[in-house]
Amino acid sequence: MKKIAKWAGSAACAVLLMASGSAMAEDDASIDQQVDALLAQMTLDEKVGQLTQFSDIGDVTGPAPDDALQARKVELIRSGAVGSMLNVIGLNEIRTIQDYAVENSRLKIPVIFGYDVVHGYRTSFPIPLAESASWDLDMIEASARVAAVEASAQGLNWTFAPMIDITRDARWGRVMEGAGEDTYLGTEIAVARVRGFQGTDLSAPDTIAATAKHFAAYGFAEAGREYNTVDIGTATLFNVVLPPFKAAIERANVRTVMNAFNVLNGIPATGNAFLQRDILKGDWGFDGFVVSDWASGLEMVNHGFAEDGRDAARLAMLAGSDMDMESYVYFDHIADLVENGEVPEALVDDAVRRILRVKFELGLFEDPYRYLDAEREAASLLTPEHLDTSRRMAERSIVLLKNEGDLLPLQPGETIALIGDLAADKDSPIGNWRGMGEANSAVSVVEGFEEAGLDFTYEQGAALQIGEAGFAQQVIVNTEDRSGFEAAVAAASAANKVVIVLGEDALQSGEGRSRTRLDFPGVQQELLEAVHAANPDTILVVMSGRPLVLTWADENVPSIVQAWHLGSESGHALTNVLTGAYNPSGKLPMSFPRALGQVPIYYNQLNTGRPNQIPDVFWSHYIDESNAPLYPFGYGLSYTDFAYSGLTVTPTADGAEISFTVANTGELAGEEVAQLYIRDLAASVARPIRELKGFKKISLAPGESGEVRFTLGPDELGFYNGHGKFLVEPGRFDVFVGGSSAAELTASFDLQPE
Ligand code: BGC
Repeated sequence: MKKIAKWAGSAACAVLLMASGSAMAEDDASIDQQVDALLAQMTLDEKVGQLTQFSDIGDVTGPAPDDALQARKVELIRSGAVGSMLNVIGLNEIRTIQDYAVENSRLKIPVIFGYDVVHGYRTSFPIPLAESASWDLDMIEASARVAAVEASAQGLNWTFAPMIDITRDARWGRVMEGAGEDTYLGTEIAVARVRGFQGTDLSAPDTIAATAKHFAAYGFAEAGREYNTVDIGTATLFNVVLPPFKAAIERANVRTVMNAFNVLNGIPATGNAFLQRDILKGDWGFDGFVVSDWASGLEMVNHGFAEDGRDAARLAMLAGSDMDMESYVYFDHIADLVENGEVPEALVDDAVRRILRVKFELGLFEDPYRYLDAEREAASLLTPEHLDTSRRMAERSIVLLKNEGDLLPLQPGETIALIGDLAADKDSPIGNWRGMGEANSAVSVVEGFEEAGLDFTYEQGAALQIGEAGFAQQVIVNTEDRSGFEAAVAAASAANKVVIVLGEDALQSGEGRSRTRLDFPGVQQELLEAVHAANPDTILVVMSGRPLVLTWADENVPSIVQAWHLGSESGHALTNVLTGAYNPSGKLPMSFPRALGQVPIYYNQLNTGRPNQIPDVFWSHYIDESNAPLYPFGYGLSYTDFAYSGLTVTPTADGAEISFTVANTGELAGEEVAQLYIRDLAASVARPIRELKGFKKISLAPGESGEVRFTLGPDELGFYNGHGKFLVEPGRFDVFVGGSSAAELTASFDLQPE
């Protein structure tokens, strides 16, 4: 309260004092009035300040930063020329910068502090792709909630998450950051994540504003190469790419959207008026603000779209990009552009209004220091409850891909050879985009096995990485050293079973980490083959940020577990799954290819004109590999078995009621994700061969069965044409239900014309 008095009692404009607590946050009209009153007092330069976001300025609580640019940033914040900061970490740092703004600037407008809180903050959660494999929306929302509690306890107001780009190309390093290839699943997860971050009251001190990113189609970078050109048709744009964004706005009220590095139809997303003005702010009525991606404004010059920084500022503002992240183009040029009549001041006002509104909603005007509470910080980070939530999330994120002869779960009394650098790695499970997740802080598999009292020996076999890899550095992979093979093979021969943990280092996926090979880096594949030859009872655990090509393993290794990068509790969660303490329930959110050449591979493809095998070669296929994925979207095994039966489809006035039975036919309790797919057989725009339209995660005791029901209505049965018009067309629909996108239980119904 001291801080409020200090701030409110200063010479701040009287209008701000009208703001009164949480009533303000709840009252849109009141916020709008206050925003307008404040805006009326702002000079053009102060307005530009609100559109400007700078990255951290180093150790602000120590001596003044030496670097001339950093020192200048301090002066700029003091003068009200900076409305937002990113990458400022720590209560003292944030307080100091907030002091600069609200103690010194004329209008005392608080700074909004953003950061990439992507899968946990201090308590690390599974990477988003892994969490998506849980298909457990409540857990995913709980994970984002924990992240918000922790990040806000360190003074942050805003996360640049969730990334809700649909991603079909495992070569792209950022698949780890999204929810995979499917729009329906991705939409539900987007809504859950935004709700988790933002909670029900944005002004509460433990909620943060979320960002739906990257708007739009960044996930479609050609050949999976980072920042590459995107060239997709409008039917794909409207049906595949945009729905998660629309839902994040309409169903979860996401307060900010980030545009993207890519071009769409030759126009960079940051300068794309069709995306930002027509669709986002026009058709969808989005009333939050758009932040650019890092320097994406200035990058429009490289794209060959803007002539120079000034032109980039003009194009971005005209196109509806409200806040400039670190490219200085607004800071340098907007005032001049307005004064010269090249940018209408009304557009600047609109952008400022949007930003101020979110600051009001966060309660920053009521108390710019509301997120800065050392006691809450001490009580909120890495708590046992948060770690417990992370472990439960991690267990649910693991996908059992193969389990021949029930090699898993491990049985009491068995001796295990635990092999692989990643088995002892305490860092890789923290993943990329790790927020404030500490290096080397995860529970390793070795530690998990020790704590569970398993009878095992550990051998590294081969080092995955040489030297320290930083966030911006390439990971150097050990490609040569096989000196550990002999000991690994000896350990494998001496044990009842082998658990070998292979895959990618944390920093081999993520931004800037595109790959042309989806294999195990280094000599890991050789190690796998040597160990498997010594003991065929081998269980392969794959830690990776993306689908890898596991074809050799699938053909040779009896059990395969996909373990992604699972966060702080990785080793505990994996031990629980491997021993059967938790029965795996994850389902793949991306198809796993048989061969790299199939990529991008995704289940909801169009049928083509020549889908069926014929004796000659003139049908849609490869001559050297099947079209099918190794493991399809939605696939994942359990230690028990599930059977689907009794599919009933009852047409209704505008759709159909679907019901069926799922039975647990095995001997263990387990969870199953029952999935519903449709196919619209003939439409004015060709529709995919299957589309997910519903799923339910159910828990069944051995011998138990349950009925699952879904309702299909216009939302599920309609689609967008290439002009963005939503159509629901009569005709025949096939329905498929089962435990993956290869579900075989099927029926049909006719949607009757009205
Ligand atoms: C990424 C964004 C991220 C931003 C700030 C960019 O490189 O594309 O997703 O939010 O950096 O860290």
